[in-house]
Amino acid sequence: MAKKQTPKQFDPDQYEKLPYRRCGRSGLLLPAMSLGMWQSLGDKGNEQLCRRCVYWAFDHGVTHFDLANNYGDPPGNSELLFGRVLGDLPRDELIISTKAGFDMWPGPYGTGGSRKYLIASLDQSLKRLGLDYVDIFYHHRPNPETPLVETMGALDHIVRSGKALYAGVSNYKAPQFLDAIELVEQNALTSITIHQAKYNMLNRAYETDLFAHAAAGGTGVIVYSVLDKGMLSERYLEGVPKGSRLAKRGAAGREYYENLRSTGKLERIGELAELARSRGQSLSQMAITWALRDERVTSVLVGVSSLDQLKEDLAALDSSPLSGDELRRIDSVLGE
Ligand SMILES: NC(=O)c1ccc[n+]([C@@H]2O[C@H](COP(=O)([O-])OP(=O)(O)OC[C@H]3O[C@@H](n4cnc5c(N)ncnc54)[C@H](OP(=O)(O)O)[C@@H]3O)[C@@H](O)[C@H]2O)c1
Repeated sequence: MAKKQTPKQFDPDQYEKLPYRRCGRSGLLLPAMSLGMWQSLGDKGNEQLCRRCVYWAFDHGVTHFDLANNYGDPPGNSELLFGRVLGDLPRDELIISTKAGFDMWPGPYGTGGSRKYLIASLDQSLKRLGLDYVDIFYHHRPNPETPLVETMGALDHIVRSGKALYAGVSNYKAPQFLDAIELVEQNALTSITIHQAKYNMLNRAYETDLFAHAAAGGTGVIVYSVLDKGMLSERYLEGVPKGSRLAKRGAAGREYYENLRSTGKLERIGELAELARSRGQSLSQMAITWALRDERVTSVLVGVSSLDQLKEDLAALDSSPLSGDELRRIDSVLGE
């Protein structure tokens, strides 16, 4: 006879382990750090790694896991793996997001921003995840060929149908985002609760416009590629290690690295790593502390390829905030 599985017990203090920030003016709280499932964790054969990281993260208060229809190798695999590892996790204590916007299936209805694509894609995602609803559904990137009112209307329909609880947009630049929130207001559509945007020490354009618009509109901001896909860590200081993301990109990765070196970017990253060490952090930890210094940032979304990386990154939340002097030194290294 099959043995009855004992439900997994989680640390009763899990929610004391990290801060939660309010997502804009919504009722939703997100952990200061969330876990992204784009690469590594969603790759074929990585179910055990995915399970270890997701369970450890949840046990340490990370309640939010971010996916998209096309994440993983092959595309869709992240949702399949994540759906399988959800097992003993209490659904009502989780915030699970997915997205649609990039190419997903052949033909005119498997990409873009149409009502047809977004609704069909979410249905597929829910099947892969084995869920009735996701917490956040995003339009993954702007699609100028589709009238914005159609895309926003599709998000509204999705939330009203109960297949998602909150609507979000990702990669919308400040003017596109402003158009979207204005249109949502004019048409009394479901409001945009969250914007997912790329932001890190080397890419900070959004802090001048998008963050301000989001704050004014009551939208939360979750930032991704906070480690600039690993560049803002110690991973590449001595070259391109085997198994790293850059190594997996082959010739393109080598060319990218050569460019980092020849433009002096790598040297600046080395200086940032020294500054991080002087405050008892690793560079990846300082990159996370830096992104969270801005209170308009609701959560930082981090990707990992091992449990050790996850442990190191989450420990950033125990560090002291950056002082004014440290922030000025970072700006001066970055030439800001
Ligand atoms: N909305 C969008 O368009 C969009 C786009 C990109 C990402 N995202 C979301 O954001 C999440 C994170 O994005 P991302 O993975 O590109 O960015 P990231 O968090 O900047 O980079 C993750 C990579 O950094 C390296 N890393 C992590 N912790 C490390 C540590 N402690 N020491 C050394 N290296 C470390 C790992 O590289 P190795 O693999 O080389 O070990 C890891 O795969 C994604 O999973 C996804 O959920 C959204």
